[in-house]
Amino acid sequence: METSGNNGRQPLAPLLLKGQKALVTGANSGIGKATAIGLGRVGADVVVNYVAGREAAEEVVREIEGFGVRAYAHEADVSQEDQVVDMVSRMVEEFGTIDVMVANAGLQRDAALTDMTIDQWRKVLDVNLTGQFLCAREAAKEFMRRGVVPEVSRSAGKIICMSSVHQIIPWAGHVNYASSKGGVQMLMATLAQELAPHRIRVNAVAPGAIRTPINRSAWETPEAEADLLRLIPYHRVGDPDDIANVVATLASDLLDYVVGTTIYVDGGMTLFPGFATGG
Ligand code: BGC
Repeated sequence: METSGNNGRQPLAPLLLKGQKALVTGANSGIGKATAIGLGRVGADVVVNYVAGREAAEEVVREIEGFGVRAYAHEADVSQEDQVVDMVSRMVEEFGTIDVMVANAGLQRDAALTDMTIDQWRKVLDVNLTGQFLCAREAAKEFMRRGVVPEVSRSAGKIICMSSVHQIIPWAGHVNYASSKGGVQMLMATLAQELAPHRIRVNAVAPGAIRTPINRSAWETPEAEADLLRLIPYHRVGDPDDIANVVATLASDLLDYVVGTTIYVDGGMTLFPGFATGG
């Protein structure tokens, strides 16, 4: 069948996540969509969270069901505590439990510091950072209640935080976004330390420039794309599947000993490309 994930290729390990239940936030577009489809392709049942755009979420559900696994769409704003609590408890009712939480939902509200409104600041922190806190907390409660089920996974659960290269690269004109991702780095590391004794693995994936709606203006004209490529030593803009493949592997027992790490998936964007010459 026609799929938008993995360029239609077969995965290396077809059923890497067989029998596992995953929830992906912000899964109706961009990186979240590719990740939800990627997890379904390798055998997970998937909850497709979205906040707006039900039709797009339902399409992702249908694509995932095409792999012979279960999926449904769930509308919830990750920055709202009651909605996250309801989303995870419904998942436990529908699927029995949760094994993988991908805290992906995120947004940008760009402005120069002196123009940035408190609403722009709060919105980005609420969704990108508080949303990840709430999703991690609710998932961790269920992981701890259930514990390890060896036939399913060596760990009691996995939390994967979607971060960004901007967890370490300062970004003028985006102080809300960069601060939220810097916060995600420490959220991830602290939760990893706190939850590892419960056999819960917390890690982050930090994408660079990936071709999605969030950064359309950075790649939609040839001039913009040329500018962007100057920041990417590997000289290609990433695809959502570049991220989905890493998340699927990180969620699996292949990477069971990876705890508290950020995996940068950025074509070398974090290598200070401006120093390739000079310095
Ligand atoms: C941002 C994109 C940006 C990329 C690289 C991402 O986290 O959401 O807008 O293109 O980082 O700068």
